[in-house]
Amino acid sequence: APYFHWRDGELWVEELPVAELARAHGTPLFVYSASAMRDAARAYQQALAGRDALVCYAMKANSTLAVLELFARAGCGFDIVSGGELERALRAGADPQRIVFSGVGKTRAEMRRALQVGIGCFNVESLAELDVLDAVARELGCRAPVSLRVNPDVDAQTHPYISTGLRDNKFGIPHEQALAAYQRAATLPGLQVVGIDCHIGSQITSVAPYLDALDRVLDLVEQVEAAGIALHHLDLGGGLGITYRDETPPAVQAWMAALLQRLDARGHGHRRLLFEPGRSLVGNAGICVTEVLYTKPGPAKSFLIVDAGMNDLPRPAMYEAYHAIVPVRPRAGTPELWDVVGPVCESGDWLGRDRALVTQAGDWLAVASAGAYCMSMASHYNTRGKAAEVLVSGARSQLIRAREVPSDLWRQERALALDVVTST
Ligand code: LLP
Repeated sequence: APYFHWRDGELWVEELPVAELARAHGTPLFVYSASAMRDAARAYQQALAGRDALVCYAMKANSTLAVLELFARAGCGFDIVSGGELERALRAGADPQRIVFSGVGKTRAEMRRALQVGIGCFNVESLAELDVLDAVARELGCRAPVSLRVNPDVDAQTHPYISTGLRDNKFGIPHEQALAAYQRAATLPGLQVVGIDCHIGSQITSVAPYLDALDRVLDLVEQVEAAGIALHHLDLGGGLGITYRDETPPAVQAWMAALLQRLDARGHGHRRLLFEPGRSLVGNAGICVTEVLYTKPGPAKSFLIVDAGMNDLPRPAMYEAYHAIVPVRPRAGTPELWDVVGPVCESGDWLGRDRALVTQAGDWLAVASAGAYCMSMASHYNTRGKAAEVLVSGARSQLIRAREVPSDLWRQERALALDVVTST
């Protein structure tokens, strides 16, 4: 089922016209299809049917509470990367046992809290972190379940900012140090080795890098187990890339089948499997609806100035990422080329360049593929409140985040009390 589709000449989400939501809630507005999220989770689960497996939603992609609740109810665990994400996941009703904690910079306080609530696994990223986690767990009189995140040193062929599995980036323990790290972990009384973990990057749209990484990880599994250290689970990291423009990622089913076939062929088919998909569960389940404030035709470039900016949707500014932009109610006419830009005072504040559109001030545009890494990366720059979010299921909709008002933005600030300027 197409979750976003055209009906009667306008854009719909499931059984509702997008324009109706924009009118009711204002813009900028993120609109999500609950069915798209649920079906995406189901695709992973079905591809893993019959296996001992857990899909841990990488909540950094979109950490709005109602979205987390949806995935918790769909049977997902969570991949978290901060104490803040831990609290959000718990607030959304996550089973702590189904939480894995990734990230290179976990603090002692974050470790303590995660141990107290009993999370399923820490994905440890350095030797120094192993020692700190061991100490924190011993102070609490418990043992921390750990996987080592190993860096398989494969090229994921994605944007350098979101490629994480090469040897010159900060993530993971280098492949050649991994065995020694496991041997060290096994001697630490505050730790319980439970698995192995890798993540090679994001927005990967081919199977080959995953198979390369899997092979490298299985080589290590065999070495580690030969050294007498049992590994219960294998965490293969983030999920597939999505189609923003003309990318053609494999279907989850086909991708997973290739991975499972390789696992089976190498005699590891019995292992518990974890995945940490983010983008592929939510990316194409959301759009951002924005209003055209002004048209600004010019000699060199013509601009559509819209009410969503880089603070709402930072991916174009940060990664030069492409997001399709379509009118919510297309007009007849001859398309002109526009740069779609936000109201923020930065030249980098753009959402799309050279887009052929027929539009005028007051129209609504939909920025596509905005479910992942948009709201969760939003900022308050220019003292712009965060946008509202609406979740749609069939013909019903629910506001899941109210639009922020200015006073929300300075709630933690304090009026100047120091005598720093003498009045004249
Ligand atoms: N696991 C770990 C350890 C990760 O670092 C990530 C993403 C994931 C899982 C989820 O990967 P996914 O399934 O979403 O590909 N802000 C960037 C993406 C950063 C991804 C960071 N790590 C963007 O907007 O493209």
